[in-house]
Amino acid sequence: MKSKASAPGKVILFGEHFVVYGVKAILCAINKRITVTAEKIEENIICIQSNIGKLELEPNKDVSKINSPLKPFYYLANKIIKNKNTGIKIKVESEIPLGVGLGSSSACCVAGAAAISRLFSNISKEEILELAIEAEKTIFPNTSGADCTVCTFGGIMEYDKKNGFSKIKYEPDFHLVIANSNIKHSTELIVEDVKLFKKNNENEFSNLCKDERKLVEDVLELFKKNNIKVLGEKVNENQRYLETIGISNEKIRKMIQIGKESSFGSKITGAGGGGCVFALTDDTNLNKTINQFRNKNYECFSVKIDLEGLNTF
Ligand code: MEV
Repeated sequence: MKSKASAPGKVILFGEHFVVYGVKAILCAINKRITVTAEKIEENIICIQSNIGKLELEPNKDVSKINSPLKPFYYLANKIIKNKNTGIKIKVESEIPLGVGLGSSSACCVAGAAAISRLFSNISKEEILELAIEAEKTIFPNTSGADCTVCTFGGIMEYDKKNGFSKIKYEPDFHLVIANSNIKHSTELIVEDVKLFKKNNENEFSNLCKDERKLVEDVLELFKKNNIKVLGEKVNENQRYLETIGISNEKIRKMIQIGKESSFGSKITGAGGGGCVFALTDDTNLNKTINQFRNKNYECFSVKIDLEGLNTF
């Protein structure tokens, strides 16, 4: 018997870094997915295959000692098959570039939790989310759970540390052109750099938080009106704040410039220092924006909002 599930990746549209200091962020699920297939096998092993490698181990190993990006799958399989006298084979297929801030690890955890658990019982999306967050914590102990939540439920969400998540019911009709800098970054280190910036520039940082808070409120109004052009101005404004706190670099600035040429606005998504940028477009300027990145040899692709979230087959 096989069970299959898929979950979307995500982008942070507005509010990264400032969210760490209590400001609201806006996240959006994207229509690029990770698909996980799970299958019971007779042999007493947990076997995980993906395009970033393979992990094959007996059950009941100490998860903290496993050094593999596939560790969350092992955690999930090991937990779910406990006392069930079966092994498990897991296959992971991805349309999302891995490790560049597009939610690949969260989508893996959500699709993995769903595919494996549904071999045995029909648990709810809420329970799957809980399992997925536990699994993600084996690689990112400090995760807020925001990424797994948007991957599970799809659409656009607002999140702040105090009030948690809520789904935004307006779904503006835009495309995002996502370009990959191919610079590897460590979210943890960049968050530390921002902390240092804050320490050395308390007043400036506090004003930036105020500005970001106002910007996010404006954005929520623009969503209601589906005003993509003015939304693009907010994207550019947010990018200026991210430049100020020092998470950009020469290559990213070049990419943002290319992105801005024919889109409505362009910014970093996620931690910065590398990873991806996006450019906001509608049907009128989508192809031109893609071509501009490709002409300069940047890897890019376009996405829309994923409205579905977790899907099981
Ligand atoms: C990273 O994807 C988002 C950050 O805001 C860090 C965080 O929220 O934990 C940079």
